[in-house]
Order: sequence, then structure tokens, then C-alpha cells
Amino acid sequence: MQDTMSVTVIGLGYVGIVTAACLSSRGILVYCHDINPEKLSAIRNGVSPIYEPGLEDLLRNAVMNGRLRVVEDPAEGISRSSYTIITVGTPSLSDGSADLSQVFSAAETIGKCLRSLNQRHVVVLRSTVPPGTTIGPFMNILESFSGKKCGLDFGLCFNPEFLREGSAVEDTLNPDRIVIGCIDQKSGEELLSLYRALHQEQLPPVIMTTPTSAELIKYANNAFLAMKISFINMISRLCEKLPGGNVDEVAAGIGADKRIGPYFLKAGLGWGGSCFPKDLRALRRIFLEAGLKPHLIDATIEINDGQVEWVCRLLERELSTLSGKRIAILGAAFKEFTDDVRESQAIRLANRLLNSGASISIFDPAATINVSKVLDGKVDIAKSIDECLENADAAVIATPWPVFRSLTPEKLREKMKGKIIIDARRIIDPKLFESSEFRLLILGSYMESRRE
Ligand code: UDX
Repeated sequence: MQDTMSVTVIGLGYVGIVTAACLSSRGILVYCHDINPEKLSAIRNGVSPIYEPGLEDLLRNAVMNGRLRVVEDPAEGISRSSYTIITVGTPSLSDGSADLSQVFSAAETIGKCLRSLNQRHVVVLRSTVPPGTTIGPFMNILESFSGKKCGLDFGLCFNPEFLREGSAVEDTLNPDRIVIGCIDQKSGEELLSLYRALHQEQLPPVIMTTPTSAELIKYANNAFLAMKISFINMISRLCEKLPGGNVDEVAAGIGADKRIGPYFLKAGLGWGGSCFPKDLRALRRIFLEAGLKPHLIDATIEINDGQVEWVCRLLERELSTLSGKRIAILGAAFKEFTDDVRESQAIRLANRLLNSGASISIFDPAATINVSKVLDGKVDIAKSIDECLENADAAVIATPWPVFRSLTPEKLREKMKGKIIIDARRIIDPKLFESSEFRLLILGSYMESRRE
């Protein structure tokens, strides 16, 4: 028996758990499934498996009032709901392409359930997949395991998400737009009615397109944003060489042009995280497989990799050698307000400096546990900014946590041995350091040559 407006979500990573919590917060009944039993038991107790502002409150309420239910067997949810949303991971394979095994396994599970289902059901793929996946292998698996015809017997859409870590709940409840790549008009309208229930009077602009274009929209969106950041980081390097150069001012100047826009023009150590690196690698492979050159994607990745190298060279120049030097790295998460260190530039910097013989202390206000998983035994993981700075020859701000704005010459003088500060996220006010003995080097601001 189907409940009214009910959804099954398969795959409870960032996207899945946030989607589930947001849908249930608007009265929609959500069945959640994941293959990880620990995640299921945490959610069953109203505990969020990830750190994300606002999420735990939504989860706890939804679990308490029964609108969010954990199911061990996905069939239990699918048979009772009118939509199944797939949000399983698509990590990188060694050649950079997306690993679709979890997506295909979910399709098989759903296909088997559809076989015995008498009601209409809409399958919504929300994991990031290469163009052609939804109407190709994904649909084939659904049809062969269900023995039913897509479009005629069940609906199918590809529906990309654009949520950012740190503001995932807000982004899901108030997205810039909804992209629906539908196999046919009916499937698209059916998914739209779910979004009408979620957003009510505040339905954002809806872009209806083919599943293949929707799949490409997701990749192109992330690649374009990463390209904007790499572009400004390229300009940033030039600013460092020009007296009076300041990349924030250049960014404000170009960002005021409506055709460019002010967002994703913050220069610094570069982009990381669970999406940009993986999706750019996958899009690169897609171009190569299509016999096309991914010029801009290559340049975007090259500039980003180069930012870590840029900071290492800067340190090497300032300290004469990295070998035997103690470097304090402030920040480890791939961006502020998250504990996620996946493909973090700060972690890459730490590894790169270790390879050059430096010793590292690192501090992050939220990511200590995750840092210990990736760097344990190789670096000193500090519990405070002060502990991190102790006896350091140089300090690098690697993640733009607001708390690092509080660094002053007085505070640094007490703890550090050396006088080199590299602000790789442009958060320190240079005026504070103007008449101090410290040499503050801000990525993207003119750097006077070293006084010998
Ligand atoms: C990104 C996309 O924004 C989102 O739409 C998609 O669904 C998932 O990937 P996320 O990875 O959470 O979201 O973080 P985002 O805020 O986009 O930042 C990505 C990286 O770029 C971070 O390392 C951040 O520090 C860096 N960044 C961002 C900059 O260096 N400069 C900027 O101006 C913006």
C-alpha cells in the first residue's frame, strides 16, 4: 500500500541525508536506506552521521514524528513510496572516470522491486554520472530487472544537486534552480510535483531538459566554478609581482560586471573537497573518450595543483630550505565550516612539505578526527592555535576559518621561533603587521623581495 507523497532515498552520504531531512521537514514521508549499518543506527537515533549546520535538528524532529524512517531493506521503502531517489557515491576510478558500481547496484535493487509493484513509481537519479548514463546502462538495468518499460510503466529522471558542504540544508531548501532531466513529460511533471510539495510558494526556476543534458549540466557547473577559482588564482600570482597588486580588488572590479558575477573569485590555496576534484577528473575522461581535448579543464587542474607548489616554493625561498624546518599549518578542512578533509589543499600542502623534510604541526577547529585519519603519525595534530604555533619557523593559513583572523604579532611572537607568516587564504588584515618584525606574505598581494 502506498503512502501519500512518500519517497525512498538510497545512499545516505551528504546529498542523501540532507535531501531526506529536507523533504521530511516539509511533511513528506521519507524511507532511508544505506548499506552502512552504523549510519542507519545513528540516523534511527536522530543523530546526523555528518557535521552540517541545521541538519541534526531536522533529522531529530523527522525521526521523532515518524516522517523519516530507516529501512534495512530498500524494498520496504520502495514498495510503499511513489519516488525513489538515488544518492549513492560515484568516486573516482584510477583513470579518473566515475565508478558507477553503486549506481548500477541501486538500479538492480529498484528494478527487482518494480517487478512486483502495481502502482506508478518514479525513479530519480541524483548521483553525479557521466552524460548518457541515465538513458543508457541505468535505464537498461531498471528495465531488465523489472521486466517493465521505462516511460510506460515507470517514470525516470536525472535530477542533479548543487548543494555545498557547510550550507547544504540552506542550499537544498532554497536552491537557485531545479534541473530536471526527464525521460518524458510525464516523469518530469511527476518529479516537479514533489518539488512543489517541498518548496510550496517558493518554487525556484525549473529547467526541464533531457537526462543527458542534465547530467552534463552538473559536470559543467562544477568545472565552471573551479575554473573561475583557478582563473583568479592565476591572476593572483601576477598580483604578487606588481607593486600595489591586490587580487581581491581585481576580483571586486571584475565581479561587479554582471556577466562575470562576484562569486567564486576568492583567490587562495585552491579548491578541494569531495566534488570539484572528482568531477573535473571525470569530465576530463569524458572529453578524452569523446575524442576531444579538455584544454580548460587541464589548465584548471594544473593551476590548482600549482597553488600548493607555489606556497612550498615561497616557504623554501623565505626559509632557504624546508629540510628540518618546523611549519605550522592553520586549517586542514577543504574549506571553512566543515570537518571534511577530502582532497583538501591543506592536507596536500602538509604532505608536500613533509616530503621536503619539514616537520609539521597542524590545527583545525573542526577536523581533528579526520586529520588524524589521513595524517596520523606523520604530523603533530595540535589542539589549539597556540599549540600549533609553538616553535614554528613559519606559519601558513591554509583554510579560511574566521578564528584565524585573530592572529596578531603579539600572539605569534609568544609562540613562534621564526617570523614568516603566509596567509594563503587572504583573511589577515595586513595593517596589523605593518610595523612588526614579522614578514607577512599574502597570496595575491604584492610581495616585496626579501630583505637580506
Ligand atoms: C561544490 C559546489 O559548489 C556544489 O554546487 C556541488 O554540489 C558540490 O561541490 P563544495 O565542494 O561543498 O560544493 O564547496 P564549495 O563552496 O563550492 O568550495 C569548493 C572549494 O573551492 C573549497 O575548497 C573552497 O575553499 C574553494 N573556493 C571556493 C575558493 O578557493 N574560492 C572561492 O571563491 C570559492
